[in-house]
Amino acid sequence: TTNRTFTMIKPDAVANGHMGAILNDIISAGFKVIALKYTKLSEESAGKFYEVHKERPFYKDLVSFMSSGPIVAAILEKDNAIEEFRKLIGSTNPAEAAEGTIRNKYAKSIDANAIHGSDSDENAEIEGNFFFSADERF
Ligand code: CMP
Repeated sequence: TTNRTFTMIKPDAVANGHMGAILNDIISAGFKVIALKYTKLSEESAGKFYEVHKERPFYKDLVSFMSSGPIVAAILEKDNAIEEFRKLIGSTNPAEAAEGTIRNKYAKSIDANAIHGSDSDENAEIEGNFFFSADERF
């Protein structure tokens, strides 16, 4: 799975009308969509998804924000997907995100930062499995 990553278009970007533009940026950058879902996380499932951050001071806010509205989840494929995708989305803090990156264009704050990208092959696998069964992948 070294050529795959997992993403979520976060509630802020969906609510602000950027879902289509962001998907277009992703596809235009050469990522192939393997799986795609418009859905909403419950507080419980958001808590589970972000369990690795449980001890971080921002955990509670993160879970409540990520369950505040619908999101788009996707598995994406490209050579060197993890690194290429992180380049496309820019720094976690949009104030530090490079010009032209998705977070530079669409994100407002470190919490409402428009999009998620997996940080490792291992996490891409875990996160993709959280949302998608085998028969939802093409
Ligand atoms: P994401 O990559 O989806 O995973 C964890 C999220 O926590 C991160 O994006 C940010 O939106 C949010 N977050 C809030 N504060 C921080 C922080 N200080 N460091 C890292 N992530 C943070």
